[in-house]
Parts: sequence; C-alpha cells; structure tokens
Amino acid sequence: MPEVTFLGHSCVTIKDGDHSVIIDPFLSVNPQATADVANIDATHILVTHGHGDHIGDAIFLSKQNKAPIIGTFELTHLCASEGCEIHPMHVGGAFNFPFGRVKLTIAHHGGGYGEDASRYTGPPVGFLITIGGKTIYHPGDTGLFYDMKLIGEMNNIDLAFLPIGDNFTMGIDDAVKAAEFLQAKKVVPFHYDTWEIIECDPNKFAEKVTGSDVVMLDPGKSLTL
Ligand code: NI
Ligand code: MN
Repeated sequence: MPEVTFLGHSCVTIKDGDHSVIIDPFLSVNPQATADVANIDATHILVTHGHGDHIGDAIFLSKQNKAPIIGTFELTHLCASEGCEIHPMHVGGAFNFPFGRVKLTIAHHGGGYGEDASRYTGPPVGFLITIGGKTIYHPGDTGLFYDMKLIGEMNNIDLAFLPIGDNFTMGIDDAVKAAEFLQAKKVVPFHYDTWEIIECDPNKFAEKVTGSDVVMLDPGKSLTL
C-alpha cells in the first residue's frame, strides 16, 4: 500500500516497499516545506516542468541520492548537462520503472528553467503513476482541459492532486470541474497559499466537489492508499 506524503506546494513523495518517489522536489526555498532536502531519500525524481517551484532541488537530490530524474526529453537533458542521471520521456508515453508505471500527460502551462525561465525545458506535463496497485495523478501546473475527462475514463484514479491557487493554474471553480472529469476516489488540493498571489480558501473547493472524497493534507502529512 503506497504511502503518499505532501511536502508543501506541489511536492509529493510516494513510498512503496523499498521505493521512494519524489515529485516536484521544491524544498529548500519553499515557504511551506516541512522537510529538509538533506534528509530526503529518493530512488526516483519526477519533475513536471522547469519552473523553479517544481524542478526545485531536483538536480541536488539526484546527485545526493544517485537517483534518476524522470521528465520530458528537454528537461531531463538539461539536468544531464548538470551531471544528473536521467530517464527521458514525453507526452503520451509510459514506462515501467522498478516502482511502477509512469505515463506523461499534457498540461496547459509554461516551461523554462532559471530566474527568468529562459532555458528551454520542453512543455509542462502531468504524471499518471501506478504504484502498489494504485493510480495517482499529479497534474503539475495546469489550467483546466477537457481531456481530463478522457484521463478519468481511461484510468481508475485512486488519488488526484489538483492545483487550486489560481493566477498560475486552475482556480477553485475550474478545479471542481477537473475533479468531476477525473472521477478520482480521492482528491487533494495543492498549489495554494505558498505566496499571497495564490492564496485561497480550500474549504470552498471541498464544499463544491461531489463524487470524490476531498482530503486536506497539510504540509508534512501523509495518507496511505
Ligand atoms: Ni509552473
Ligand atoms: Mn507552480
């Protein structure tokens, strides 16, 4: 049974047996982070896109743990140029890793690495992760898109994270529609309250979602699927 821990903003770890996957490891300068990047033990690092609040400490962690970075061809090759092990993929493609299966989904957002996001890291993506018999959807940063309905139809999603903070991603009303499309058993709101520009009341999201259990995970908290 995979254990899913929310580390703040969009950073999530999934542990199953000897495997420990971290997604969007934004920790050292994340105001919400409760974990110290030096204590993170990861076997695989998944990165949705090149923005600093997602690629975060991925390069440091990859070297510290000798763990490959999994993401788009463009993003992973940028990491390889910094000395990281990588596993390049692209939108629509899936691969069976030792911990489980990862499929890259579309996301409507930007890419780019560095202070001004000027280093090309390819399009942003989301991840469908099947691990320990459970399917978890981490959409990265995205606006609402109608193909979420298809993702919901084709996958039996046990847990979906959804950005709700608005401005850079979906806001609450669009995230409620996303939850309806995805038909996940559980949904967890994230990517809000990290900074003033994405502050919102997650209870308003929870009140409007029907058809999925909304689980509020404070940074540092876990749930077992
Ligand atoms: Ni972003
Ligand atoms: Mn972001």
